[in-house]
Amino acid sequence: MTPLLDLRAITKRYPVPGGNSVTAVDAVDFHVMPGEILGIVGESGSGKTTLSRIAARLIPHDEGRITFDGEDITRISGAKFARHPKRRALQMVFQDPLASLNPRFRAREAIGDPVHRLGTAAERGRAAELVAEAARLAGLPERLMSAYPHQMSGGQRARVDIARAIVLRPKMILLDEPTSALDASLQAHVIRTLLDLRSELGLSFIFVSHDLNLVRLISDRLLVMHRGRVVEQGVAQAVFEAPQAEYTKTLIAAIPQVGRRRSV
Ligand SMILES: Nc1ncnc2c1ncn2[C@@H]1O[C@H](COP(=O)(O)OP(=O)(O)OP(=O)(O)O)[C@@H](O)[C@H]1O
Ligand SMILES: [Mg+2]
Repeated sequence: MTPLLDLRAITKRYPVPGGNSVTAVDAVDFHVMPGEILGIVGESGSGKTTLSRIAARLIPHDEGRITFDGEDITRISGAKFARHPKRRALQMVFQDPLASLNPRFRAREAIGDPVHRLGTAAERGRAAELVAEAARLAGLPERLMSAYPHQMSGGQRARVDIARAIVLRPKMILLDEPTSALDASLQAHVIRTLLDLRSELGLSFIFVSHDLNLVRLISDRLLVMHRGRVVEQGVAQAVFEAPQAEYTKTLIAAIPQVGRRRSV
């Protein structure tokens, strides 16, 4: 099987005052197979957000190649990619839905927006039906469809964001700390929704989080980042049970032990 998304030797430098630059992502390779959930973990500032934004073609990178769904998208500029046919197959859910949702859009309009921007004429014709189906899959109650973002809870906004990401049936969704603003029970709810979506729609996910307990629950494979580099990657369970890199060992040792089964 060929990977759905394949990144090779990706490097990103941000300019800093004084003419220098900081290397936020340093020669990173990774791929995601169809239907797979890849977890990306690492401490704050390790380059997770930068890497996922590069993968979604939201920010430019300096070096490396990106292939998505059989097409080399490296040289397509971010602005062009926004209107590219592949864009609808690759969606992103951000950390703070209050910031990413348009305050003047009711839930129904927010979820329907990608259909009007990126959908085919046939899809635009049945936008209402697609919106209702996406809301159902994301677990958003009908009564909230007329609500504005400020009238919703954090968990409800997260569901609007997820519904909007799935409305055009993408092949992959990148989620950057999508649940970090939610309490534990809402988090569990949103995670269950994502796993249901994978079984119903066969979606692939990239799930960025600094919460290792959460990532361990849902990821098939894991990428561990440290200072812009991938220090370890592998099957999630294997990485957790037998971490190879010193940095991964430190991360795992620091996981809160609450709820972990005691050995007898
Ligand atoms: N727009 C920018 N301009 C300059 N430097 C940046 C910019 N965005 C990020 N950086 C730097 O790049 C590095 C990686 O940042 P990034 O946001 O990718 O980390 P992260 O792993 O997502 O962290 P967090 O867990 O806190 O979200 C950091 O050193 C950060 O200061
Ligand atoms: Mg980040």
